[in-house]
Amino acid sequence: MSKRTIISMPGDGIGKTVLPEAIRVLEAAGFEADYIHADIGWEFWCAEGDPLPQRTIDLLEEHKIGLFGAITSKPKSDADAELAPELRDKGLVYYSPIVALRQHFNLDICARPCQTFKGNSLNFIRRGAHDGVEEPEVDTVIFRQNTEGLYGGVEWSNPPDQVYEALMTHPKFSKNFGDVPRDELSVSTRIFSRQATERILRAAFEYARQFGYKSLTVCEKPNVIRETSGMMLALGKEIAAEYPGIALWDTNIDAQMMWLTKNPEDYGVIVAGNMFGDIISDGFAGLVGGLGFACSANVGEEVAVFEPTHGSAPKYADYETSIVNPIAMILSACMMLDHIGETEIATKIRVVIAEVVEEGQVRTYDMMKMRGKPEVLQQGAASTTQMADAVIAKL
Ligand code: NAI
Ligand code: MG
Repeated sequence: MSKRTIISMPGDGIGKTVLPEAIRVLEAAGFEADYIHADIGWEFWCAEGDPLPQRTIDLLEEHKIGLFGAITSKPKSDADAELAPELRDKGLVYYSPIVALRQHFNLDICARPCQTFKGNSLNFIRRGAHDGVEEPEVDTVIFRQNTEGLYGGVEWSNPPDQVYEALMTHPKFSKNFGDVPRDELSVSTRIFSRQATERILRAAFEYARQFGYKSLTVCEKPNVIRETSGMMLALGKEIAAEYPGIALWDTNIDAQMMWLTKNPEDYGVIVAGNMFGDIISDGFAGLVGGLGFACSANVGEEVAVFEPTHGSAPKYADYETSIVNPIAMILSACMMLDHIGETEIATKIRVVIAEVVEEGQVRTYDMMKMRGKPEVLQQGAASTTQMADAVIAKL
C-alpha cells in the first residue's frame, strides 16, 4: 500500500507536546506515513487574524486525514488585545478553529470511546452490595452529533425584528417572554436536521454492529424537548429495526448522569445531540481516567480529524520537561488508524498502553493523583516523553 499522508496540527500549548509523542509511537508501531505540519491556533490569530488559515484547510481538503493536538481560546477582550496592531479595527472576530474545522468539513460524527484500562489508579470504584469495593469495567462509546443543536451557533442577544416577530408567533414565547424587554432577551437555538440525526444514529448502529455491542442508548430528553430529542428517538426506533441484534434503549440526560456512577458497565454505544453528547462523554471519561485518557474522532463524509478531548492546558505548556499525559493523544491516533483500516497497528498500540497502565511502573502525574507541578518529576511521576518511551519500548 502506498504511504499515507497525515496532516499534523499540533496547535497550542500541550498540543505541541503530545502530538509529536503520538507520532513517535505511530512510527515505532510500524505505521508508515508522511506528516505534513499545518498551522492552527492562537499564534495565527495574533499574527494573521485567522486561527484557521486557508492553507491548513487546503491541506486537509487534499489529504483528508488530520491529527490535531489542542488550541487555546481566550475571551473576546484578550483576542482583540493580542491581535497584531496592523490588524486591529478591521472587524476581525476570533472563532475557535477546531469548531470552525468541524463546521467547514461537516465533521458531523464525533465518537468518544471511554474504556477502562485494568489497573489504572484513576478508575471509578463504588461500594458493592456486601460493602466490598467494586471496580466496574466501563466500555462505552459515545456518538455525539458534532455540528448542530445548541452548539450550532444560531443565537442572538436582543434578537432582530424578524427573529423576534417569528418567536412571538409561538404561543409559549408570547405568553412567557412577550413582556420581557427585547434587549433583555438572549436566544440560543437547538436545531436538529433529519439528515444529520440519521447520520449520527447510523454511524453509531454500524459501530455497535462492527464491534459487537449489545445495546445502543439514545440519550436525550424527548419528554420535554419534544421536537429535537423527539426526532432523534423516533429515528432511532426506525433505524433499530435494521439492527435486530442490538437492543435500543433510551435514557434522559439527567437520569443518565445519575446512572453514570450506579451502573456504567451496562452501557455500550450511546448516541446524543451535540451538547448532551459533550456532557455524557466527559462524564464517562471521568470514570476511566479523565482527560489524560479521553480520545475522540471527528468524522465527516470526506475528511476526518482525530484529537484528544482535552485542551491546550496553558499552565503546563512552558514546563521545561512536559508532565502531561500523552495517552489521550496516542489513543486518538489509534482511532485514526482504525478509520483508515490499520486496525492491526491500532490494536497493537492499545494492547501495549494497557500493559503499561496495568504494570503501573510508568505513570504521569495525573495517574498518581498529584497536582501538576514541575516537581512531580522528582516525586516519581513520568514525563510526557517517558510515558511515550514506555509504550515504544514495548512495541
Ligand atoms: P484543558 O483540557 O486544557 O485543561 C484542564 C486541566 O486538565 C489541566 O489544567 C490539567 O490539569 C488537565 N489536563 C488536560 N490535559 C491533560 C493531559 N493530557 N494530561 C494530564 N492532565 C491534563 O482545559 P481548560 O483549562 O479548560 O482550557 C485551556 C485552554 O484549552 C482554553 O484556551 C480552552 O479554550 C482550550 N480548549 C481547547 C480544546 C480543544 O482544542 N479541542 C478543548 C478544551 C479546551
Ligand atoms: Mg467537552
